[in-house]
Amino acid sequence: MTKAQAQERIDVLSVDLERHNQLYYQQAEPEISDAEYDRLFRELEELEQKFPELTSANSPTRRVGGGILEGFDQRAHEVPMLSIDDVFSEAELRQFSQRIAKASSDPVVVTIEPKIDGVAVALHYRKGELDVAVTRGDGATGDVVTENIRTIKGLPLRLGTDAPEWVEIRGEVYMSDADFAQLNQRRDEEGKTPFKNPRNATAGALKLLDTREVARRPLSFIAHGLGGSDGFAPESLQAFREALRAWGLQTNDPVWIAETEEEVISAVAELEVKRHGLGYATDGAVVKVNDTALQSEMGATSRAPRWAAAFKYPAEQKETVLKAITVQVGRTGKLTPVAELEPVFVSGTTVSRATLHNQDEIDRKDVRIGDTVIIEKAGEIIPAVVRVVGEKRPENAVPYNLYEAVGGCCPSCGTPIEKEEGFVAWRCVNFACPAKLASRIRQFASRKALDIDGLGNIVAEKLVERELVKDLLDLYDLSEETLTNLNLGNEEQVRMLGSKNAAKIVSSLADAREKPLSRWLYAIGLPQVGESAAKELARLHRDFRDLASSEALQRLSTFTQKDKKEDDPLLAELNIASEVGPTVAESVSSFFAGELGEAFLKRMETLAIDPQSDNFAPKESTEATSDRPLAGKSIVVTGTLSASRSEIKSQLESLGAKVSGSISKKTDFLLAGEGGGSKRDKAETLQVPILTEDDLAAMVAAEVKEAADLPQQGELFS
Ligand code: IVH
Repeated sequence: MTKAQAQERIDVLSVDLERHNQLYYQQAEPEISDAEYDRLFRELEELEQKFPELTSANSPTRRVGGGILEGFDQRAHEVPMLSIDDVFSEAELRQFSQRIAKASSDPVVVTIEPKIDGVAVALHYRKGELDVAVTRGDGATGDVVTENIRTIKGLPLRLGTDAPEWVEIRGEVYMSDADFAQLNQRRDEEGKTPFKNPRNATAGALKLLDTREVARRPLSFIAHGLGGSDGFAPESLQAFREALRAWGLQTNDPVWIAETEEEVISAVAELEVKRHGLGYATDGAVVKVNDTALQSEMGATSRAPRWAAAFKYPAEQKETVLKAITVQVGRTGKLTPVAELEPVFVSGTTVSRATLHNQDEIDRKDVRIGDTVIIEKAGEIIPAVVRVVGEKRPENAVPYNLYEAVGGCCPSCGTPIEKEEGFVAWRCVNFACPAKLASRIRQFASRKALDIDGLGNIVAEKLVERELVKDLLDLYDLSEETLTNLNLGNEEQVRMLGSKNAAKIVSSLADAREKPLSRWLYAIGLPQVGESAAKELARLHRDFRDLASSEALQRLSTFTQKDKKEDDPLLAELNIASEVGPTVAESVSSFFAGELGEAFLKRMETLAIDPQSDNFAPKESTEATSDRPLAGKSIVVTGTLSASRSEIKSQLESLGAKVSGSISKKTDFLLAGEGGGSKRDKAETLQVPILTEDDLAAMVAAEVKEAADLPQQGELFS
């Protein structure tokens, strides 16, 4: 095939693939099968591999992401991305309608459309092709996120032949509720923290530097405004919508056209009901003057245009009956009272439970079993009891007392519950309480602990629920077969973990056998023993047996406020860092002194797991870093560097530096890679020296000349 022939075929394939992409994602009317699409896609990929010089930036193959970005450039918006004035009541909405009616002697037509709860971006199309995509940023300047935006399925990368020389389309990147749920489920299965809401997930995705990962995040785009253009000037918002649709962009629907104040009010009311069925998050109605000439006439303040307003919907409230209060034991042992409600439909879903938080909250609202209550969804997501309808209280309703309701004992394990001074919540303090087990499994499997791939929240919960794991180390008794058949769904809807995931878990567990003591110590989740305490404990001890019989810890655990480590000869010699104090020491010693600790050690022995310290150095404190090249230096890191942030941080720390998150006058240097705007500015203002990695390497090399036996220098500064 000649180059010219290849070019011709690439053009045909690109146009076809884009069209099918549109048909599939925008119109939901695919003309070809997925397999056929894949075949065309692969053909294009192969041609582009053979003739890399023919690959265009907007080729359909670029949608799947490719490279890792070094950082985001900043770009000023030609026309600032303004905000919209909010109105919160019908009265304010009427005032707005009356105000715009005065702007013209003719009746003023407005459109009413949803306010999408997403992330605003501006898309610049040049010669009909997506050229640059910029986030709103502070309204004046945003991040260039073009590569990430290209991965949005269904977003046209080409507008077609009748597109203007330049047009800037503004809109919201968002994630649909269904896509969001699926993404979170996948994250959970991969052992990653789920996102709080679709907006956060979207914002997070746009900030990723790995475009291949962005392509795995199910983003969508709805257009709602015109930023600027060369010779494209639709007369009205309606005409603008038609152009958007012709170009294959998703418009913001449903939309209402209104002329009178009453029509505006009723459209806003209709949208309030309809928005819950849209399948993505909205938080208001945007009312805009339809006529673009009139828009220009009315102009804008420095903050927002005068021709638009956003009506913010209040959370929908419903009345229902509180049938019972149950008590849940949370991951940390906290007891939470939960309202069991007569099911009601609120803000798009049926609600039958709502948290009552704690006893104080119940007292404050005087919530009693049998009460009729008003509920709403806080932040549109979490159901909450707002107040009691006093008139409807049954005569026999009595105040609720959580302590009495559970008979003073944890509903999960029966251990007497406790309340710490100054805290409102009751807790189960039994370390081995089964209610805490799922979250302990999660910690055990987390990346910073033993990094068990595939063991996420759901898997952990199901293992506990099905009583397959009653103690952390039971994980080592699970066969691949048991795991494969683990039902992650329920009885009606069975969803098995599957052999691939099961194999992953089993092999990660096998790998974990060789992980160092510090990780194991963190993994087993002894109270008070966090990551850094675990590291310091591992510096002082060789293995679990050593820890169990540690004289240092036994001594330290008896310390009171007055006692000083320096006054005890043994402890003074060990130079124990502040991460390990009497509380940590007490937690560790009492664990190993008790039955649980003894059983743990025996079980580890049976399993032939014997983690060793990989940083054993009892005579050299991690705090005693004065002889290291960066000892005592306070460093802040910004921008994109040659390694991940945490790697850089630990390398700097191993050289004796303190790495902190924000710049102050006390900061010695800012280590800056590419990008890193605001910290750079602040460093300049405070006259804090800014160093590149090379600068720092040179500096360290100079310091290191005499000190030959330093701890691991790392690749970065070698
Ligand atoms: S029009 C100057 N329409 O809300 C008016 N904005 O609070 C430009 N937003 O950053 C915005 N849905 O990104 C418009 N239907 C909609 C919208 C919408 C969401 C966002 C927009 C803006 C923010 C302002």
